[in-house]
Amino acid sequence: MTQTPVAVPPDTSFYGHPRGLATLFFTEMWERYSYYGTRALLMLFMVAPATTGGLAFPVVKAGAIYSVYAAMVYLLCLAGGWVADRITGQRRAVLYGGILIAAGNFSLAAPSIMFFYAGLGMIMLGTGMLKPNVSVIVGQLYAPGDKRRDSGFSIFYMGINLGALISPLICGLVGENVSWRLGFAVSGVGMVAGLIQYWLGGKHLGQAGLYPASTGDASKDRKQKRIGAIAAFAAVAVLGGLAMLSSSGVVEISPTTVSDGLGWVLIAISLATFYWLIFGKGWSVDERKRAVAILVLFIASAIFWASFEQAGSSLNLFADRNTNRVVLGHQFPASWFQSVQPLFVIALAPVFAWLWLALGRREPSSPGKFTLGLLFVGLSFAIMVPPASGGLVSPWWLVGCYLLATLGELCLSPIGLSAMTKLAPARIGGFVMGIWFLGTAIGNWLAGRAGGLFESMPLPQLFGAVAASALVAGVVLAALIKPTVRMMSGVK
Ligand code: PHE
Repeated sequence: MTQTPVAVPPDTSFYGHPRGLATLFFTEMWERYSYYGTRALLMLFMVAPATTGGLAFPVVKAGAIYSVYAAMVYLLCLAGGWVADRITGQRRAVLYGGILIAAGNFSLAAPSIMFFYAGLGMIMLGTGMLKPNVSVIVGQLYAPGDKRRDSGFSIFYMGINLGALISPLICGLVGENVSWRLGFAVSGVGMVAGLIQYWLGGKHLGQAGLYPASTGDASKDRKQKRIGAIAAFAAVAVLGGLAMLSSSGVVEISPTTVSDGLGWVLIAISLATFYWLIFGKGWSVDERKRAVAILVLFIASAIFWASFEQAGSSLNLFADRNTNRVVLGHQFPASWFQSVQPLFVIALAPVFAWLWLALGRREPSSPGKFTLGLLFVGLSFAIMVPPASGGLVSPWWLVGCYLLATLGELCLSPIGLSAMTKLAPARIGGFVMGIWFLGTAIGNWLAGRAGGLFESMPLPQLFGAVAASALVAGVVLAALIKPTVRMMSGVK
């Protein structure tokens, strides 16, 4: 995603940052509120018995749907970034995205299975339009070389986690204790609040993200728009065709087959991307070496998110079915556990920022921090093996699990994106940002499928296997720290 020159005058009216940061902070806060509110309920709603208003899906099917949903949300960020760059500009992309997300949540609230799937589709598309682009606008608020940029992103990251913290408390309570569908509606209302705020605050954003980046050649620009239109049309035609074939019974399309297909698509995109980055024409030797380093971090991040994002799938079910949630005679909703991770992020992010500074020359390299991330998330599942062997267990197990996982997130997530952008050849910076989302998508796909095994595999075995995968990956990455740092050719 190209950086257009900044047209906003230097502004320090929001705690020393441009006022527009407040607008984007709250836009993303509400978007994440909506995303995590819906995510907290989704798995539980799909498997809940029809008597409670749930969909009564088998866990395997629910896991497959969750995998497609959570993976597509992030995979479509690649498309959303491209559409904004070339066609709509970031500002309009965020607006359309927010409208789609709100509409999607209201669609989930409607009592019809068709509306359920349509709602998930709208949220996928909407998040793909909104999430990458709101971050791009944040970057554009600062002139190149402005020292406030990194701290601006740290503040923005707090907005993400603030939204993720409050929504499970509200949507979870309404969804689990009143009505599932009302819970989704409450999630949609949050996105509407975010949209109103974004609309009203637009004046603080100056020119940032208003126009698509021009290639500098009008006929090339027009060609790009045409490609976009054809691709969108083709996607709609393929989806429509598939829907018709399946509803007429010509082919059997189940959530599991869709999810399997998506798995192959994710692998194919990753292979093609890295083949091009490493063996493609026109890269210098250093750029190829850095692409290998990007590949190592990419694989590590996919494995990391595969464990971490089970908060919404298997661990969510564990909270619901295996955890004693009665406090002072009252049972609290299982989805409240979803607030634990963002709470720890908010509490501990400043500690980590301080820690890395305090370590000075001993601060770990990016692959070193990724290793720590994998080891922590591996441990977080390892400690769940004993409580998984049966009976209702204390809620502190999950709290401990989420604490360890969050320590991992803080080692990996904030570092990942900036490492990627620094390792990428400058002319494809936006594309490499997309690769980071691709890694997240693969992780989410795996997390959904792992959640689908909740009933078919003994739990200690499932959690043990997840722990072992992350820990083994951590150990392998530890051995690769030195060669990877060498491949990074001087990038810190
Ligand atoms: N907590 C992060 C967020 O919601 C998770 C994430 C990381 C999502 C990387 C996308 C990419 O923003």
